[in-house]
Amino acid sequence: MLTIGVDIGGTKVAAGVVDHDGRILDRVKYPTPANDPRGLADVVAKAVDELRGRHGEVQAVGVGVAGFVDEDRATVQVAVNLGLRDDPLKERVQERAGLPVVIENDANAAAWAEARFGAGRGSDHLVCVTLGTGIGGGLVMGGRLHRGRFGVAAEVGHYRVVPHGRRCACGNHGCWEQYASGRALVAAGQDLARTDPAAGRRMLELAGGVVEHIEGHVITEAAGEGDEGALSCFRTIGEWAGVGLADLAAILDPECFVLGGGVSDAGEFILEPIRDSYARHVSGRPGRRLAEVRLAELGGEAGIVGAGDLARH
Ligand code: BGC
Ligand code: NA
Ligand code: ZN
Repeated sequence: MLTIGVDIGGTKVAAGVVDHDGRILDRVKYPTPANDPRGLADVVAKAVDELRGRHGEVQAVGVGVAGFVDEDRATVQVAVNLGLRDDPLKERVQERAGLPVVIENDANAAAWAEARFGAGRGSDHLVCVTLGTGIGGGLVMGGRLHRGRFGVAAEVGHYRVVPHGRRCACGNHGCWEQYASGRALVAAGQDLARTDPAAGRRMLELAGGVVEHIEGHVITEAAGEGDEGALSCFRTIGEWAGVGLADLAAILDPECFVLGGGVSDAGEFILEPIRDSYARHVSGRPGRRLAEVRLAELGGEAGIVGAGDLARH
């Protein structure tokens, strides 16, 4: 049986045909319409139609979306980075696509994919953290996706890491995603270039001299050349990410953490600072057994694979 997995992110809607080994057989991609719930459902339906036209055996659709999804896996309660609130996404997509649809949180879908087919294979207790525009979380405990009573367990991006800290689009202050996400990394890079031109020189050069053009890939490229300014940005983000993992370990005691999302493309530059910070902040040390911290294996495909696989189960 084949399914379609759809990953709705802040910039693009990516969809693929997924087989039961988690392989993607075919894929399409469209830009995400901004602040337009109906338009978004139309884009998802269009992607589904297109793929189905080429693969008649598709039987169900799973949609991963960057927001709080209810326990019925039907409604997006709120998606701060997509501009959705109380949105009946399942109904909208199902009536257009004419196939059974399940909606899932994007990071839950990614966690499921990593647990079944990626870096978490063989681990029954894993926490997946996606460091992208925001920070997402997914818990696979005892081999099952832990969704909580109301569907929104593991909304770790909005755990308060700094009391009275930076403002978040969710309405609170001090949320983890304001300190350790891809957006936070970019903010750190741009801030360095503005306030310490010597330290930010290489990043600024690679961005064509425009501070606002310092983006994640620029910081990664500079770090790859050994640029101290860029490396310090990764250390700053990694420090905060490690603090968060330590707190999650205090509550959840996983066997491993899997780090996904765009920031994880930076590999060792981000992994080392996170591991280091995590080991310094975790409770019960020395003595307690430490969960391993690994990079995700499925990269940008995890959302599609996980959503497709969840539609099958
Ligand atoms: C949202 C989550 C989402 C995460 C990653 C957060 O801001 O609240 O639902 O999983 O971003 O996309
Ligand atoms: Na989640
Ligand atoms: Zn928040």
